[in-house]
Amino acid sequence: MPQKKKKRAIQKRKANAVKRKSPAIQRKRRQTAAKKHEIAVIDTIAAMRRFASTARAKKKKIGFVPTMGALHEGHISLIRAAKKDCDVVIVSIFVNPTQFSPTEDLSKYPRTFDSDQKLIAGAGGHAIFYPTNMMMYPEGYATYVTVESLSSLLCGVTRPHHFRGVTTVVTKLFTIITPDIAYFGEKDYQQAAIIRRMTADLNLPVMIKTCPVIRAENGLALSSRNRYLSDKEKADAPLLCRSLLAARAAYAKGGRDVKALTDIMESVLRGGKTLRIDYIAFVDAATLAKKTTADNNTRIIMAVYCGSTRLIDNMAIR
Ligand code: PAF
Repeated sequence: MPQKKKKRAIQKRKANAVKRKSPAIQRKRRQTAAKKHEIAVIDTIAAMRRFASTARAKKKKIGFVPTMGALHEGHISLIRAAKKDCDVVIVSIFVNPTQFSPTEDLSKYPRTFDSDQKLIAGAGGHAIFYPTNMMMYPEGYATYVTVESLSSLLCGVTRPHHFRGVTTVVTKLFTIITPDIAYFGEKDYQQAAIIRRMTADLNLPVMIKTCPVIRAENGLALSSRNRYLSDKEKADAPLLCRSLLAARAAYAKGGRDVKALTDIMESVLRGGKTLRIDYIAFVDAATLAKKTTADNNTRIIMAVYCGSTRLIDNMAIR
């Protein structure tokens, strides 16, 4: 190919690549895919409000599943639960910047809109709310919702601003979407407890439902962050679940002393060279208050670094 023609072809390819990345083209692609999957993709707050108020006017019950995308079977179980209870199921996909600290994984958090859309449509969701950061946090944004005390325990020690970001965005999503029922996974046990507290304290007219942790066959609790794990880390990660099961087994045999039960868990976790414990706590399942003696209302909650990825898990003691 002559030099000039080659240069023009390269320029054209570059221009097309830029066009493909433009928000307008991406939006059009999302809408085309949405039609194919028969699911509404709603990317403005005004349109989301219209969609929700039309559903309400028709006396439809709205179920809401908030997510940050990178969906897995855990999210799908929430959508399925919403389908059972509600007429309209709305799933939000928003990687919420205010719940990440500057040193956390906001920029590398997986963004997989196309496959998320297929999964949501496949699970029977009706609409995806997909706002931008600027819509949710425009210039001058200054209002935050904080649930005191519960947000500074457990995961709140290592992630002091995390729950404030979660409660802020969830409040905003609730006011935009006005769901009757919102669904959260028990994998984020503390998050669910905080959302319940917030909903009760602010008299928000939303029922909060939680669904059980979904695990891989090897016991690893499903999480969008599991995709960060190397092969070595993947081999170690199921030890979290195994350590919870070991504590449970010891409790079933009469073990009540939290210190001894924690030792059992730690010895299981020592089997994983890539693991570093952030915390292990035995708490009251309702109040999250720490216990020194386990009883039937105890929930075991843990966070463990697997390489540089922080994994969380929890289990009822029986
Ligand atoms: O659990 C999550 O994925 C997030 O914390 C949530 C609830 C979607 C808020 O951003």
